[in-house]
Amino acid sequence: MKNTDKVNRVVVIGAGFVGSSYAFSMMNQGIAEELVIIDLNKEKAIGDVMDLNHAVAFSDYPTKISFGDYSDCKEADIVCICAGANQKPGETRLQLVEKNLRIFKGLVNDVMESGFDGIILVATNPVDILTQATQKFSGLPRHRVIGSGTTLDTARLRFMLSDYFKISTSHIHAYIMGEHGDTSLAVWSTATVGNMPITQYLKQDESYQMENLDEIYENVRDAAYHVIQKKGATYYGIAMSLVRITKAILKDENAILTVSAYLDGEYGAKDVCIGVPTTVNRNGIREVMELNLSEKEQEKFTHSVETVQNIYREAIE
Ligand code: LAC
Repeated sequence: MKNTDKVNRVVVIGAGFVGSSYAFSMMNQGIAEELVIIDLNKEKAIGDVMDLNHAVAFSDYPTKISFGDYSDCKEADIVCICAGANQKPGETRLQLVEKNLRIFKGLVNDVMESGFDGIILVATNPVDILTQATQKFSGLPRHRVIGSGTTLDTARLRFMLSDYFKISTSHIHAYIMGEHGDTSLAVWSTATVGNMPITQYLKQDESYQMENLDEIYENVRDAAYHVIQKKGATYYGIAMSLVRITKAILKDENAILTVSAYLDGEYGAKDVCIGVPTTVNRNGIREVMELNLSEKEQEKFTHSVETVQNIYREAIE
C-alpha cells in the first residue's frame, strides 16, 4: 500500500530560466510537496524562492519551497539538473559539451556525496551526452538517470500536427526519436491520428500532403533555434517537459515518454543515451519500447546514435 504520508521532495539544481520555470510549473501543478532550489548564485536562488513563496497563496497546492545546498539532496526523491551554459543564437547543442561536462563532473559528485539515492533528471544540453555522463559520474543504476531527451521535440511535433489537422493534441500519437538535436527523426511509420495511421489520415483531405509533414518535422527540429533567435533562450517548453517526466515518476504512472534512456541493444544500438519511447514510473525507467521502424527511419536513428556516441566518446573517453 503506497505510503500516502510520504513527502515527495524534488531538488532543482540551477535557478536559471529553465530551473525557475520548472519550479514555477511544479508549484502550479502540485507535483511535489517539497521543492528545494540550489544555485551557485545564492542571491538569485533565494530571490526565486521568495518570489515563488509569495505565489503559494494562489496555488491549489501547499508546496514547501526553500533555498538549499547539496545536503538537501540526501532525502530527495528526484534531483533535476538544469545548471550549465545554454545555446547562444546559432550555436548547436553539441557545441556546449566541453563546458557542461566540466560543470557536471563536480556537480554530480556533490549530489552523490550527500548520500542521494533517488532519480536524477537531466535537462542541460547536450542532454543525451550529459545523461550518459551523469550515469557514469554518479554510479547510479542506469534506469535511475533519465534525460529530458526528445520529450519536448515530441510535444512540439504533436502541437504542430494538432494545428495542421485541427485535432486535439491528446489524439495525435507521434514521436520524435534520436538526439535531442539536429539528427533527430519523426517516426511517421507508427504515428496515428486517433487510431488511424497518419499516412491514411492524409487521405481525409486533398490539402493534406506528406511534404507538409516533412516541413513540420523541420520546424520541430529547428524550433529551439527559432525561439532563441527571437527571445534569447527557450524555457517554458522544456520546463513543462521536465514536469511531465517528474509527474510520471512521482505518480508511478508507467507513462510512455521519449526520454533519453540508455540503450543496451535496443534498435541495434549499445552504450548510448538517446530519445526513445520509454515507460517511466516510480523506479525511473521500466523499459525501452522497440518500435518497428521503417528501413529509412532505422537508418536515420542509427546515424543519430553514431553522432551522439562519437561526441560522447571524444569528450569522455
Ligand atoms: C530546446 C532546448 C531545451 O529544445 O534544447 O528548447
